[in-house]
Amino acid sequence: MATNRTFTMIKPDAVEKGHIGGILGMIADAGFKIVSLKLTQLTVADAQAFYAVHSARPFYGELVEFMSRGPIVAAILEKENAVEEFRTLIGATNPADAAEGTIRKKYATSIGENAVHGSDSDENAAIESTFHFAVREQF
Ligand code: PPS
Repeated sequence: MATNRTFTMIKPDAVEKGHIGGILGMIADAGFKIVSLKLTQLTVADAQAFYAVHSARPFYGELVEFMSRGPIVAAILEKENAVEEFRTLIGATNPADAAEGTIRKKYATSIGENAVHGSDSDENAAIESTFHFAVREQF
C-alpha cells in the first residue's frame, strides 16, 4: 500500500440519511481519487474486530452496535499525503468541534454518529483497506 492512500467508511447514520452522494462529492471535490469502493455491512464480529484497538474504551459497545446496524460505504482513496489531508477534510471526531467546510460539520450529528471514518496513520490505512478489500479490488 502506497503512503498516498487512506481508507474511509461512510457510516450507517449518513447512509441511512441518503448522504452517500453528497459525501463522495465532497471527497472528489477535495481532489481524492477513489481507487476502491463498495456498499457493504459489518457484522457485530466484524465491527468488534475493526475497532478492537478501542475495546477498553467506555463507548466500545455503542460504537460496535452503531457500526453494524446498517449498510456502510467502504472506500480506498488516493491523494498526496492522503491520511492527513483526509483527516482535515472530515473534521474533528465531535461535530461540535468540526471546522466549517468539513464533512462532519455538514453531515455528522453527534460524537457517536459522526458520518465518516478516516484512517489515522499510513499503517492503519493499509490494515483497514485489507480488512475490507481483496488485493485484486485495490486498483
Ligand atoms: S480518533 O479519530 O481515532 O482520533 O478518535 P477517537 O476519539 O479516538 O475515537 C475513536 C473512534 O471511536 C468513535 N468514538 C465514539 N463512538 C461513540 N461514542 C463516543 N463517545 C465516541 N467517541 C469516539 C470515533 O468516532 C472514532 O471512530 P472512527 O470510525 O475511527 O471515526
